[in-house]
Amino acid sequence: MSKTLKIGIIGSGGIAGAHAKAYKQMLGVEVAAVADIIPGRAGQFIEHWELPHAKAYDDYRQLLDTELDGVSICTPNVAHFQTTVDALNAGKHVMLEKPMSVTLEEAVTMAETALKTGYMLNIGFQPRYDPNMAIIRDLISSGELGKVYYVETGGGRRRGMPGGTFIRKDIAGAGAMADIGCYSLDMAMNALGYPKPLTVSAFTSNHFGTNPLYHKEADKFDVEDFGVAMIRFEGDIVLNFKISWAMHMDSLGAALFLGTNAGLKVTPSGSGPWSGVFDGSVGSITMFHDVQGHHTESPIPVIQHQTDLFHAKVWDFAEAVRDGRPAPIPGSQIVRNQAVIDGIIRSAQTKKEVDIFLPSPFA
Ligand SMILES: NC(=O)c1ccc[n+]([C@@H]2O[C@H](COP(=O)([O-])OP(=O)(O)OC[C@H]3O[C@@H](n4cnc5c(N)ncnc54)[C@H](O)[C@@H]3O)[C@@H](O)[C@H]2O)c1
Repeated sequence: MSKTLKIGIIGSGGIAGAHAKAYKQMLGVEVAAVADIIPGRAGQFIEHWELPHAKAYDDYRQLLDTELDGVSICTPNVAHFQTTVDALNAGKHVMLEKPMSVTLEEAVTMAETALKTGYMLNIGFQPRYDPNMAIIRDLISSGELGKVYYVETGGGRRRGMPGGTFIRKDIAGAGAMADIGCYSLDMAMNALGYPKPLTVSAFTSNHFGTNPLYHKEADKFDVEDFGVAMIRFEGDIVLNFKISWAMHMDSLGAALFLGTNAGLKVTPSGSGPWSGVFDGSVGSITMFHDVQGHHTESPIPVIQHQTDLFHAKVWDFAEAVRDGRPAPIPGSQIVRNQAVIDGIIRSAQTKKEVDIFLPSPFA
């Protein structure tokens, strides 16, 4: 009989529950430890989620001293860096919630630590597990569009601003760009084979979050609720990226991939003020091409599926640990996603186009 996989959870707030629920449903996996910086919170979490084998800790370093195969890191963004580096150095595989980090420097050190220690650093982008995202990636990487030279991604919620830890720069690091923007970037960059970003020219604002008319925590809101950026990639590809948590508009449009042979239009699914971004699933996929000289629009059938994307990402991580596979969504790749977000923040601050510097082996 194979041994039971022991998992720890660091940070037992909102999203940690989804991790606990997924691990609980896996055979041969047990949540053996939970840590939260707020005294008593880990214990309450263990009780709430009925984790009979789990021990509670107030200090995650004590959790890392115990025998565990892997940890889910579910702290606010600002704590991703230290907890991840410490976990990898303690010999634990890491399933890290998005976004990877607050700064590019942190992301680089985290990915370097994974490479140095040989432990896995896996980033939790659950939209990757939507089979339609795989169709988009496969269509683009197959070369069917020809040379892809222009991409639009992102999207906009009419009204979908979170609160709490998400709106404070000292805890979240950034706002909509990091929160939902990292998914849209991943969708496009993954389809393109994660090309190296070279420069960014960006604008961000927070007219809604800081207005008490629109946000009840307006006095605490100091991150961006809107952003737009033009990103140049190696291979002469340009990306027009836009994101909004709130706006007076129904949509910021579809994702577009323009290639020399064909174009692809992808719309997000869902409706209502919190929809309109690629943080969940795909609404439609249409190929624009010429067939025998005629402008043709070919709908690509969207797979209606029952996959629980969140469970899929947690299970894939645990199975990769058990089977000795590499990280399904490796930190070494997502460094480039974080580099774009870092570039957006720098460019928006300086109001100038900025260069992106990536050290080897991520360059
Ligand atoms: N993938 C998704 O769909 C998804 C959804 C929501 C949140 N998230 C991400 O998950 C992370 C957590 O979000 P949340 O909504 O659960 O936040 P939360 O504020 O509800 O929970 C975070 C918990 O971490 C604890 N914590 C903070 N610093 C800690 C430390 N050093 N050691 C141990 N515990 C610590 C806090 O006390 C809190 O209980 C964020 O990075 C967020 O972006 C992902």
